[in-house]
Amino acid sequence: MLWLTVCLSERDQDAAMERLSGRAVYPPSPPGPIAFNGTKLVNDEDHPWKPLRKGDIRGPCPGLNTLASHGYLPRNGVATPAQIITAAQEGFNMAHGAAVTATYAALLVDGNLLTNLLSIGGKTKRTGPDPPPPAIVGGLNTHDVFEGDASMTRADAFFGDIPSFNQTLFDQLVDFSNRYGDGYYNLTVAAEYRYHLIQQAIATNPNFTFVSPRYFTAYGESAFTLNLFVDGRDNTTALGGRRLDMDTALSFFRDSRFPPDFHRASRPTGTDGVREIMAAYPFKPGRNVDGKINNFVEDPTSPSDFGGCGLYEDFVEKVFALYPNPKGVLRRNLIINLHFFYGVFASRCEEALPYGTL
Ligand code: HEM
Ligand SMILES: *[C@@H]1O[C@H](CO)[C@@H](O)[C@H](O)[C@H]1NC(C)=O
Ligand SMILES: *[C@@H]1O[C@H](CO)[C@@H](O)[C@H](O)[C@H]1NC(C)=O
Ligand SMILES: *[C@@H]1O[C@H](CO)[C@@H](O)[C@H](O)[C@H]1NC(C)=O
Ligand SMILES: *[C@@H]1O[C@H](CO)[C@@H](O)[C@H](O)[C@H]1NC(C)=O
Ligand SMILES: *[C@@H]1O[C@H](CO)[C@@H](O)[C@H](O)[C@H]1NC(C)=O
Repeated sequence: MLWLTVCLSERDQDAAMERLSGRAVYPPSPPGPIAFNGTKLVNDEDHPWKPLRKGDIRGPCPGLNTLASHGYLPRNGVATPAQIITAAQEGFNMAHGAAVTATYAALLVDGNLLTNLLSIGGKTKRTGPDPPPPAIVGGLNTHDVFEGDASMTRADAFFGDIPSFNQTLFDQLVDFSNRYGDGYYNLTVAAEYRYHLIQQAIATNPNFTFVSPRYFTAYGESAFTLNLFVDGRDNTTALGGRRLDMDTALSFFRDSRFPPDFHRASRPTGTDGVREIMAAYPFKPGRNVDGKINNFVEDPTSPSDFGGCGLYEDFVEKVFALYPNPKGVLRRNLIINLHFFYGVFASRCEEALPYGTL
C-alpha cells in the first residue's frame, strides 16, 4: 500500500511536471559586465521614480526595490535573472560577480526555475505555475532561505512583517550614525551597527538564526549600503572616508527612490569593506536554541569564511533540500542555474554537481 502510494505520487509528479514543461524556459547565460563602468547620472529622464500601482511588488531589498521603482527592473517587481544583473550594474554599478552570485542564489531558492522568473517580494502567480514542493518559489520575502534575521531596516520574521521598512530600526541606524559617524553611516558605523543588530537579536528574538547564507549576506549588505548608496561623484573614493547621509539612506530604504541627481558608484563595487566590518567584532554563526532569548549557541557546521568554499557548498545543499528529486526540464534548469551560481567560486572551489551534468 505504501509502495503504491509512493508510486502514484511519483507518477502524479511526473504528470504535473509534464504539464508545467509547456511553460519552461531554457535559461539563457547571464549578461556580462557593462561596457562603461564609471559613474553617471542614473536618476535620469528615462528612469523616473513612480509610485506603486495596485499589485506592484516590493520586498526586503532596498537596492532592487529602487531599481523597480525607477524602471530599471519591471515595475511590477517580477524579473528574470538577466534583467536583475543588468539593472544592478546599470543603476548602481554593482560589481558583476556580486550581481551574478546574489541573483542566481535568489533564483535558486526563491524563484521559479521553470519560467526563469523571480519576485523581488512576496509569492505571486505572476512567476507561473510552481514546481512541486518542497520547492517554495516564494519570492525574496521568504524567510530563512536567503532573507534572514538582524536586518538593518526590516524586522525579524519572528516579529512579523519582513519586507516592510521599519521606522524604529531606521531610527536606530540614525542614532548609530550620530554616535559613531558624526551623523553619517561610514565604515565605523557599519561595524558598530552590525554588531549591535546581532546582540539585539540575541536579546530579543527567541528564534534568532544567524547561519550561512544569512551570516554572509548580513555583513555583505552592511557593506553594500556604504558602497552603492553613496553618490559616485563623492570625491572620497577610498572606502575609509566614504560616508552616507541619512536623507539619502531614508530615500533608498523607505521610499525605494534615488535622490535627485543621483550618480551611481564611480567603479564596479559590492562587498568591499566586509572583512573590516567583520573584523571589528569577530563573531561566529549560530542561533538562539530551545526557543529562548540570550541563549545563543555557535553552530560549527555553518561556514564562516568569506574566502572559502563553505558558503558555496552549503548553499548548493540548501538548494538540494528544496529540489530532492527533480525530473526533466526542472532537473535541466537546476543544473544550468547552479552552474551560473558557481561562477565567482569557479576559480577556487570544485563544482558541486548534485544532479549530475547535462
Ligand atoms: C543583484 C541582486 C540582488 C539580490 C538578489 C538581493 C537580495 C536581497 C535580499 C533577499 C535581501 C534581504 C536580506 C535580509 O535583510 O534579510 C537584501 C537586502 C539588502 N540588499 Fe539586496 N539584493 C540584490 C542587489 C542589491 C543591490 C544592487 C543593492 C544596493 C544597491 C542591495 C542592497 C541591499 C541592502 C542594503 C540590504 C539590507 C536591507 C536591510 O538590512 O534593511 N542589494 N537584498
Ligand atoms: C572597467 O572598464 C575598464 C575599461 O573597459 C576595464 O579596463 C576595467 O577592467 C573595468 N573594471 C571592472 C572592475 O570591471
Ligand atoms: C520594528 O522593529 C522593532 C525592533 O525589531 C520591533 O519591535 C517592531 O515590532 C517592528 N515593527 C513592526 C511594525 O514590524
Ligand atoms: C524560526 O527559525 C527557523 C530555523 O531557522 C526558521 O525555519 C523559521 O522560519 C523561523 N521562524 C520565525 C517566525 O522566525
Ligand atoms: C567615521 O566617522 C567618525 C566620525 O567622523 C570618525 O571618527 C571615524 O574615523 C570614521 N570612520 C572611518 C572608517 O573613517
Ligand atoms: C570635490 O570635487 C569638487 C569638484 O571637483 C570640488 O569642488 C570639491 O572641493 C571637492 N571636495 C572635496 C571634499 O575634496
